Parts: sequence; structure tokens; C-alpha cells
Amino acid sequence: MKNIIIANWKLNPATLKEAKQLFDAVKKDIKKNKNVQVVICPPFVYVPCSMFHVSWLALGAQNVSSEEKGAFTGEVSVDQLKDLGVEYVIVGHSERRKYFGETNEIINKKLQRVLAVALHPIFCIGENTGEDKQEVLKQQLTEGLKNISENDVKNVVIAYEPVWAIGTGNSCSVDQLMASVVLIKNIISKLYTQEIADQVAILYGGSVTSKNSGDYLFGAGINGLLVGGASLKAEEFINIITSAN
Ligand code: PGA
Repeated sequence: MKNIIIANWKLNPATLKEAKQLFDAVKKDIKKNKNVQVVICPPFVYVPCSMFHVSWLALGAQNVSSEEKGAFTGEVSVDQLKDLGVEYVIVGHSERRKYFGETNEIINKKLQRVLAVALHPIFCIGENTGEDKQEVLKQQLTEGLKNISENDVKNVVIAYEPVWAIGTGNSCSVDQLMASVVLIKNIISKLYTQEIADQVAILYGGSVTSKNSGDYLFGAGINGLLVGGASLKAEEFINIITSAN
């Protein structure tokens, strides 16, 4: 399996011109590093831009509606994303949980919608400071994956993102990450089977930089990284991709 490096641009950049500049600065290196699957998740409004619709890149969305269609002002559906060539959808990011009130139940609905149209959900889970990691991960996984079949769960990409590590510079240690991966696999093996737990891709996110990316990928045995802040700095992002190749 290729390492997956996901750029989560969040609510950036402010203009299409800047988005193009950022993409132009990294595209040569994305193309060059053939052993890595790079996924760029720009804000919705930039998704249709032709620059992203190239064979050597996968396009991702940062969110999706839990509803299929109809009177839901401001929402974007899975069918609309699929029609625009989106392949991956971030679901349940901690910022969605914190600022937009997304519950495990809503996240479960979104995961089911994304899987129903054969896109890959990037299912974010992670504990906050002071929370019982084991309990939080168990609840997020159990409720988030409710009614998702063995067949479908193989298409879910899990992104372990401890909330205390996101955008703070307090990255998780390799040992902490390894322990969390064991915990996640153990929970999934109880919900499904050990075989499935071994097949599901697990990524790490939270203050990833070019200085720690290699250690995570090769020291903790994960399948990729979800990169926020560092994906907005061309040189940093290129170095992260290169470390994963
Ligand atoms: P960060 O964000 O890399 O800026 O910590 C990661 C994320 O929110 O996915």
C-alpha cells in the first residue's frame, strides 16, 4: 500500500490566485514522488478548479452533508462531490466536532453516505487533553462505524488526530502513536475481525512537519499523514511528501 499524504488546507488560502500559487509550487514534486498517494483537500469552492483534476493527484473534500439532497441550505452532497471527481472526504474532523457540533451520530450518517457512493472517508478520531483516550476512541469508533459492513469498513481511512496535537506544535511522540495504533486496531478487531483491523489504513495527524513525518511513517508503521498547517507551506509539504516516498 502506498503511503497517503493528505493536505487539509482548512479555510485557506483567501484567494483563488493564492491557491493556484500554492499548488503550482508543489505540483512538480507531487508528480515526481510516485510511491506516495497525495490527496489535496481544498475548500469546497476550489474543488472544481481544473488544476486539481490530474491523474497523479487525488482530490479530497474537507466535509460533506449528512443529507442526500433537498432543502438543506449551505450543504454539499456526496453526489455533488463525486460528480466533481472527489475521491476522499474528511469526516468528523475535531474542528467540525468542536465548532459545528458534529456528534458521533452525525459522523456515522456522513460515513455511510460517503461509502454508499464508493468514495473514501477519512474518519478523524482522537482524544482531547484530560480525556480517557481508550474510552474516547472506543466510543468514537463504535458509534461512528455503527451499521457499517465489513465490506465497507475496508474503504474507511482512519485518521488518528489527538486534539491536543492539532495546530499546537505539540506533536505526539512515536511511542504514543504506536500505542494508539494498537488501541485502534484492538477496538476495530472487536467491532469486526482481526483481519479487518489489520487491513484498515491508519493515518496520523497533528502538528506534522518535515522534521517528524519520517519518524511517524517509518517508526510507527502507519499508512500516511493528515497535514494541516505544514500543507500550506510549499517547501514543508514537499519535504513531507519526499520523506514518505
Ligand atoms: P495541523 O492540523 O497539521 O495544523 O496540526 C492537522 C489537522 O487538523 O488535520
